[in-house]
Amino acid sequence: MPDMVLLSQRLLPKFALLTIVLLYVVVLAGSIVRATGSGMGCPDWPRCYGRLIPPTSSDEIDFRRLDPARFERSWASHGRTSTVVTEETLRENFSAKETWIEFINRCLGAISGLAALVTFVLAVIARRRDSPLMLLLTVQMVLFAAVAWMGKVVVDTNLLPWMITVHMMLAAGLIATALLVRYRVAPACALPVKASLRRHILLSLILILMQTVIGTQVREMVDNLPAGGCCDGRLEDRLGTPMVWHRVGAILTLTAVAILFFRLKFRPACDAAAPALITLMGLLVAIEYGVGVLLIRADLPAFLQPVHLFIAFLLFGMVLTLLLRSRLQNDEPAPKVASHE
Ligand code: HEM
Repeated sequence: MPDMVLLSQRLLPKFALLTIVLLYVVVLAGSIVRATGSGMGCPDWPRCYGRLIPPTSSDEIDFRRLDPARFERSWASHGRTSTVVTEETLRENFSAKETWIEFINRCLGAISGLAALVTFVLAVIARRRDSPLMLLLTVQMVLFAAVAWMGKVVVDTNLLPWMITVHMMLAAGLIATALLVRYRVAPACALPVKASLRRHILLSLILILMQTVIGTQVREMVDNLPAGGCCDGRLEDRLGTPMVWHRVGAILTLTAVAILFFRLKFRPACDAAAPALITLMGLLVAIEYGVGVLLIRADLPAFLQPVHLFIAFLLFGMVLTLLLRSRLQNDEPAPKVASHE
């Protein structure tokens, strides 16, 4: 049994890190699903076309196992050519590419959930008395269950835009808890900061979060645009108030994070990771802004949509990590130790 405890102690930080990496892969995969329009690639859940391993051609589909009403709703909401569901039209509309992109996304989600479950079990073996860690891991498990359930609801409601938004916010919650768990089991060396700098890090984090929420509202507007090309160069006007706020938020976020970058950059660091993290944060906020401008100017090229979302999540993770690593530095002189002569 002590061997088991030792092994779990060694594996715990590794699985906590693996969970974070896998969650980011899932976020990227999810945004690729949206950019390629593969969200309804599997019209049922948890199976895909009634099967555990989805078909690669329409000949493999057992049409007796499918619910035609679900396809009808899905097609109607996705502007497909035909909304009359027959075996023939189902064959016509089947896309192996969309089906497999969605299926791979689901598999990655399941694998990340498994990594989180292993982390939980390892923590129970190695650190069950660490109540904050156990609480964090329990919250993470609940969030995973909620995300999985939402995955089903998103499919059942044929990808209602606000459902996708809730789904994404849950993903942000998962990344936050995964970062907290990793920090708890493998604390990095502290970054000494003054209270005002710590407040600045917190403000940047809040701005990135708000910008992400407003960004999802912009995306909902994008999803409601008429299919096939947009707006004769007036895309920004068509995205309404959310886009106006997203613009304002972008300037505030860029300014806050850029100043944070300069405030942190020239401080002494306790390890090599901190300066790299700070430089990357500065670079990414500038790239994110540029990608946003390109999205608008170039009429929303599909390949840039996942990039914009992924960088937002990376920024969120980096600033949260900096916040976790920051330690209030004591400016006051150390209290004199009373002598006991
Ligand atoms: C630092 C700043 C920024 C952050 C953190 C940010 C973040 C986000 C996020 C998280 C989304 C939601 C993506 C999704 O739901 O798939 C989004 C959408 C969007 N953002 Fe930004 N954004 C920033 C700057 C900008 C700028 C400067 C512009 C343009 C001037 C812009 C234009 C857009 C557009 C057009 C969408 C909808 C894209 C889509 O439908 O996939 N963003 N943004």
